[in-house]
Amino acid sequence: MSRIYEALQKAESERKLERHEREPLTPEQPASAVSPSQTGAAVAEYDIPSAPAVEAFSRPSAAMGSALDLSKIARRPWTPSLAQLPALLERGPSVEQFRSLRSRVFELRDIKPLKSILVSSGMPQEGKSFISTNLAISLARHKNSKVLLIDGDMRRYTLHELLGCESQPGLADYLAGKAGVEEIMQQAERVTEENALGKAFLPNLTFIAGGNGGDKAADLSGSPRFGELIKLVEPHYDWIIVDSSPVLPVSDAVNLARSCDGVLLVARGGITKFPVAQRAASELKASNLLGFVLNAVEEQPQVGGYYGYDATRG
Ligand SMILES: Nc1ncnc2c1ncn2[C@@H]1O[C@H](COP(=O)(O)OP(=O)(O)OP(=O)(O)O)[C@@H](O)[C@H]1O
Ligand SMILES: [Mg+2]
Repeated sequence: MSRIYEALQKAESERKLERHEREPLTPEQPASAVSPSQTGAAVAEYDIPSAPAVEAFSRPSAAMGSALDLSKIARRPWTPSLAQLPALLERGPSVEQFRSLRSRVFELRDIKPLKSILVSSGMPQEGKSFISTNLAISLARHKNSKVLLIDGDMRRYTLHELLGCESQPGLADYLAGKAGVEEIMQQAERVTEENALGKAFLPNLTFIAGGNGGDKAADLSGSPRFGELIKLVEPHYDWIIVDSSPVLPVSDAVNLARSCDGVLLVARGGITKFPVAQRAASELKASNLLGFVLNAVEEQPQVGGYYGYDATRG
C-alpha cells in the first residue's frame, strides 16, 4: 500500500468519522471508510433469477495430506436457493458485484498470504450469510478453485438453507468431539439427467454446516479444535470462507477469527450505523481486518471503488 494511499485513507477516515458519527451508512457513505485496510466492495440488491445457468468444473483432486481423506466426503443432494444465490447466475448486476468482490479478495492475497476468511458484522441481519455463501460460490466457479465454506454461526446456522442441504452433523459436532472431520464435510451429489431439476452442481465447493451449538456455541467457538480444523483442511483448499455470528452481541466470531487469515466485515446499506461498524472493527482489532463489504446498495460507491482499487495497487 503506498504512502499516498495511506495518507488519503487516514484523511478520509477522519473526515467520515466527524461527518457520520451518528448516521446510517448509505451508498454515498461507504462502510469501507472505517476500515484500516479496505476492500471497499459493494454488493447490490440481488435480482430474482429467471433462467439460472450453472457452470460445472471438474479437475483432479488436489494433493492429499495423510490426515484428511477427501474421498470420504459424502455427496448429498443439494437444492440451492437460486433466489438467494445470485453468484450461481451467468450474468447480471449481482453476479458482477460478487465477481468484483472476488477480484478484491484476489488482490488482497497478492499483498499477503490469504486463504481462510471469516465473514462477520456488528449486528444480526446485515447479510453475513448471504455474502459468505455467494462469495464462496463465486470463488468456486473461478478457474477451478477449490473452496471450503464453513457455517461458523453455531447459533443461527442458515447456510444449509441457502444450499438446500442437511445441517447436521456440522461444525458444532466436530468441535464437541462428537464427529470426525470427514463426517461433517459434504459436497453436492453429481447432477445427472435424471436428478438435474432445480439442482446446481458445484464440484469445487465443499460445505461444513453449523451443527447445533445451542447455548454451548461460545465455548465451542473458543475450542482449539477450530484452529486444528483449519490447519488440517488448509492444504486441500484454495479458499476457506467462514460465516459467523455478529460480533457485538456474542464473542463467537472473535474466537473463530483468531484461526483465520483475515476478516471481512459486512455493513448493510441504509441500516448499519456508522458507530456499529466502528465497534465491530474494534472488536476484531487483534485479527487481520481486510475491509468492509457494503451490502444491499443500488450502486457501487465511487469512494469505495477508488479505495478498493488503489489499496491493492498503490
Ligand atoms: N443484498 C441483499 N439484497 C436483498 N436481500 C438481502 C441482501 N443481503 C441479505 N439479504 C436478506 O436479508 C436477510 C438477512 O441476511 P443474512 O441471513 O445473510 O444476514 P446475517 O447477517 O447472516 O443474519 P444473522 O446475523 O441472523 O445470521 C436474508 O433474508 C437475506 O436473504
Ligand atoms: Mg447469518
